[in-house]
Amino acid sequence: MLPPCPFANLSIIQPPTSTSKLHLNLSSSSSSPPDTPSFSPNTPSEKPSEAFSARGKLPGEHELELSQPVSTLLKLGTQRAHVKAEHSAGAAALVQGGLGLEEYVRWLAVLWRIYDALELGLAENSTNPVLAPTYDPALLARAPALAEDISYLLTLIPSSSSTTTQNPTYSSNATSLPPFPLPPFLQELFTSPPEPLSNYINHIKSLASSSSSSSKLLAHSYVRYLGDLSGGQFIGARVKKSYDLRGEEGTKFYYFEFQNRSNGADGDDESKFHAKKRLGEVKDWFRRGMDEGVGEDQVLKANLVEEANIAFSLNTDLFSVIRLPSSSTSQPQMATQQKQAKDETTMADKLNSIVWFLVAAGAGVLLNIYVQPVVTDWVSSKRNGI
Ligand code: HEM
Repeated sequence: MLPPCPFANLSIIQPPTSTSKLHLNLSSSSSSPPDTPSFSPNTPSEKPSEAFSARGKLPGEHELELSQPVSTLLKLGTQRAHVKAEHSAGAAALVQGGLGLEEYVRWLAVLWRIYDALELGLAENSTNPVLAPTYDPALLARAPALAEDISYLLTLIPSSSSTTTQNPTYSSNATSLPPFPLPPFLQELFTSPPEPLSNYINHIKSLASSSSSSSKLLAHSYVRYLGDLSGGQFIGARVKKSYDLRGEEGTKFYYFEFQNRSNGADGDDESKFHAKKRLGEVKDWFRRGMDEGVGEDQVLKANLVEEANIAFSLNTDLFSVIRLPSSSTSQPQMATQQKQAKDETTMADKLNSIVWFLVAAGAGVLLNIYVQPVVTDWVSSKRNGI
């Protein structure tokens, strides 16, 4: 196994020579901010978007040059999937801090189950040469940080501590007992997990179980870890603010050990600068590790781009397990209530009109009966000079 995340001991990969292309039906481009500048000799000198626009093609559209390093291909080949994940309702609710604390903790427990499966699968296959260069649990593992966040945040939900069950009956596909308390609202994730969660877990387990497919776990590492090191930082800052969290408690999932813990909202400018720099270095290390593990194997590169799109899709589906605030009153029920209210308003308007019509008609009749004779008498008496 390679030494843990160190930026110096990585081998240099020669520039690829083949020009094979992977055809993908990825018809949109995204506008991800540019990468953190890399110090690595094996990172492509040409920016991906420039490489594509030079041929008159938008990034991520139609075809990928498989001669490029896998880190570049993964970025380009998942742009459309990233935009979709980023714009899902679940992601928006997380970014806006729109979830109640209990639902947010439930989401962290969902993530814990994913990382538990992924990190177990990576550990089982850590000697796989494709996975080995990026395998560094001390640096990247998220399951322990998630467990700590969940345990801490549960203490902020008073009702959860009194009703905690430590040992519910698990479904057959549960890998391990979680290292955090299980109040009733979390138990269902272990006893009968929602489909998007069990699909994702089963997919990871099936890749991990065979040496012919375990290399594809690299695509899942890429999607989760590089996502956490990128957009996850932004989400972490929002979560911190939304739930009024201080220090590192409750947000260890977003802020990796290697980052200065005074990072984020609490840090001064210098510590923020260093935390950002270290973040960039680790991301570059991860990209170089992927390039090193995959080398020039173009079939593997194509498989990994495909698998990363599957990973994005599984993650986008996973957001659907979040119970959004508006869905606490069931949507169909709300729609029915709104329709009833609208119908009632229309009926009231109609009745109002009828009443006013009747009043007006009645007034006309009364005028005719009582007032008109008086007026007629008065006019004729005037004419007769009385
Ligand atoms: C609100 C949701 C999200 C936001 C705001 C967001 C934002 C970003 C940003 C700004 C970057 C570029 C960072 C950089 O180049 O250094 C990025 C990269 C990335 N994001 Fe997201 N993201 C979101 C959701 C997701 C989700 C749900 C996933 C997958 C689970 C994901 C996976 C990734 C990956 C793998 C990268 C690295 C791309 C690369 O450099 O190869 N993101 N994200």
